[in-house]
Amino acid sequence: MKIVVVLYPGGKAATSNPKLLGAAENALGLPAFLKGKGHKLVVLTDKEAKLDKHLPDTDVLVTTPFWPAYVTKERIAQAPNLKLVLTAGVGSDHIDLAAAAAHNITVAEITGCNVVSVAEHAVMQILALCRNFIPSYKQVLEGRWDIAEAVSRAHDLEGKTVGIVGMGRIGQRSAIRLRPFDVNLLYYDFRRLTTVEEEVLGVRYHLLDDLIPRCDAITIHCPLTPETDGLFNRDRLFAMKRGSWLVNTARGRIVDTLALVEALKKGRLGGYAGDVWYPQPAPPDHPWRTMPNHAMTPHVSGTTLEAQKRYADGIQDCLARFFAGKPLERDYLIVDGGKVVSPSYSYAFKG
Ligand code: NAI
Repeated sequence: MKIVVVLYPGGKAATSNPKLLGAAENALGLPAFLKGKGHKLVVLTDKEAKLDKHLPDTDVLVTTPFWPAYVTKERIAQAPNLKLVLTAGVGSDHIDLAAAAAHNITVAEITGCNVVSVAEHAVMQILALCRNFIPSYKQVLEGRWDIAEAVSRAHDLEGKTVGIVGMGRIGQRSAIRLRPFDVNLLYYDFRRLTTVEEEVLGVRYHLLDDLIPRCDAITIHCPLTPETDGLFNRDRLFAMKRGSWLVNTARGRIVDTLALVEALKKGRLGGYAGDVWYPQPAPPDHPWRTMPNHAMTPHVSGTTLEAQKRYADGIQDCLARFFAGKPLERDYLIVDGGKVVSPSYSYAFKG
């Protein structure tokens, strides 16, 4: 079988550190894993022309959200042999799931592999905004010492109201990590938790448009689907409390790009910290690079060294089962048997 893997270029950092399994140079440990098994492995960093060249005879395609090869319906149509598309990570929105289902291609991701990594990052970004960390740190680099300037925007998180949008694996782990800060935790999800789950997590449910104006900080943890594309549009951004903070480690397209810049410039939002962009990599002139009061990172939250090991192991497990004709781990499946089967995506693709 021909297995095509598209990963980010790791350069020197990856050749000198074999633990960077998510980089093309180390290719999720697949060269060693596939050795002697009779398959052909192609590792790419080019997610456009070179990927297109390989599509006609590719059987298995492995992609990653951090360096997303956009598996559009046009690309799927060019790949008649394609049977399995795996995401090394969590979030398969870069794949046209409806087209994959129509072509009976199985899509799976490594569910759970980086949920703690992202929850830790989200809490860090909430604190970075609330404590005005980045401007204070910049002062240090610039040889300055202006306490008044730095603290005029610095707050305690204690006593604030924090909203979690998308209360799945990452949302729940974020709630658990935020609770010791003595915050008031609200959440929205299209599937409400049970009373017991809400009690244990210490969270209260609100519909989205009711939750938004109540929060001092909101952190987004739902997948990108046709339902959540642009969920935080101009109206919702401008419905947020004046000076509040928004954190988005889920997907860039959940937040309207230009409306966000406007909300920050007008001071409606006090700050935005995200880890995710559209497209990725973000071009040098992406407006989120230069908007005021941001604490952005370049989609790194879910790819710590520990997470890379977990998703590399998960990809190898999927391939081993696929070669042996066994079903993949049930929790990993996004599209199977011609249907979108993941509970987080199926609502948006129920047609
Ligand atoms: P999950 O499937 O456990 O939870 C997602 C939650 O979102 C579910 O509770 C689901 O009911 C809810 N949801 C789905 N559609 C919704 C809608 N229209 N409105 C409200 N809630 C909705 O997924 P998990 O593991 O918590 O990951 C969430 C997302 O985080 C992923 O889909 C991915 O986009 C992103 N992610 C980002 C990473 C990064 O490195 N920045 C790494 C891992 C995930």
